[in-house]
Amino acid sequence: MLLLIKDGTVINPGDKTEREADVLVENGVIKKIAPKLTIKADRVIDASNCYVMPGFIDMHVHLRDPGMEHKETVETGVRAAVHGGFTTVVAMPNTKPVVDNGDVVNYVHNKAKNIGLAHVLQAGTVTKGQRGEALSDIEGMVEAGIPAISEDGKSVMNAQLYREAMTLAVKYDIPVLAHCEDISMVNGGVVNADKATEDMRLRGISNAVEDVIVARDIVLAKETGASLHLCHCSTKDSVKMVQMAKEEGVHVTAEVCPHHFTLTSSDIKENDANYKMNPPLRTIEDVQALREGLKADIMDVIATDHAPHTAIEKGVGIRKAPFGIVGLETAASLVVTELVDKGWLTMMQMAEKMSYNPAKILGLEKGVVEEGKPADLVVFDAKKEYVVDPEDFYSRGKNTPFAGKAVKGMVMATVVNGRIVFER
Ligand code: DOR
Ligand code: ZN
Ligand code: ZN
Repeated sequence: MLLLIKDGTVINPGDKTEREADVLVENGVIKKIAPKLTIKADRVIDASNCYVMPGFIDMHVHLRDPGMEHKETVETGVRAAVHGGFTTVVAMPNTKPVVDNGDVVNYVHNKAKNIGLAHVLQAGTVTKGQRGEALSDIEGMVEAGIPAISEDGKSVMNAQLYREAMTLAVKYDIPVLAHCEDISMVNGGVVNADKATEDMRLRGISNAVEDVIVARDIVLAKETGASLHLCHCSTKDSVKMVQMAKEEGVHVTAEVCPHHFTLTSSDIKENDANYKMNPPLRTIEDVQALREGLKADIMDVIATDHAPHTAIEKGVGIRKAPFGIVGLETAASLVVTELVDKGWLTMMQMAEKMSYNPAKILGLEKGVVEEGKPADLVVFDAKKEYVVDPEDFYSRGKNTPFAGKAVKGMVMATVVNGRIVFER
């Protein structure tokens, strides 16, 4: 099977080059990258006026499978992924049951393999049942192929236990993906603690709720030597601490979600729970710091924290609805609209933060467009404009604050292992 992607601009963050070229794919592997290839292929994708980029890698999604299939399944989740240009996703383990042993890892991996769209890598929890009391079967999950451990949804509040987990992560050479939230400081908060939300009479979650755990986790990573990846950073001081830790040589990387670099708490619409996520939308100072941190490459990764919930679950108002919004099908457009077009990022940086850096952190041979490498690719039109309509989503979750937003940047085709898994 020969696939030819013609006349695109190929972005390869592997050697930081951008050039006009055709890409020939044979049996799932990139065979040749060169201008004006004249080969008769079985399938041709016209990529004129488009970028050909490494498939996006989302280090942070919730597929809700097993146990919450009314919100999402592996199948609807990967369909959403490839629609959004993602060829690999890391699934968070806060499912029902939680992923704390090899059997649940195998269940998700087998399901994803049978569907055969995007690659799904299932992360394992740090503690059994996410109860924060005893460590999960980390060795068993490593054998089953987890790319990382994460207690996402919460922090492991017992620092000694977390330190033990980090030591095991070093032993098994996997990163620790950290959701930073001191639960003892949340106090029933549902949105950011600031003037705008006070006026809405909503209880606040202060920046310190995140910052104290970011600080603690950096200290623990420094002591253990673990590779710490900070999930969904939302505060200006998180950015500062990441910068300081990197300067000290601590193995720390950090991610930012599109909603956190796009919206502030002032954007929250009256009692609309599609603006409720954890960590919450912060202030303009935080948004500014996140953008600057991305631009300066202090912040390494853009990930979605795709967190589908049903319309009924989200329809009960901000105070009572669960935290979380979907993100797989709006991420690339928001990066172009809010960061690339406004001069914060180059297209190369977009490819680094959405493909190359996640691959490096996860130890995957992905995130590049190079001959001999697996053909996980996205054909992306960075000029195409459209209006976000949740009814177009493949995800079961329609819970987005971006419905009706005019954006730029559209996924035209997604290729996984040389197979076209999405085409417009
Ligand atoms: O907004 C969020 N949703 N934050 C989390 O930490 C968990 C996630 C979910 O699982 O819904
Ligand atoms: Zn989280
Ligand atoms: Zn999450």
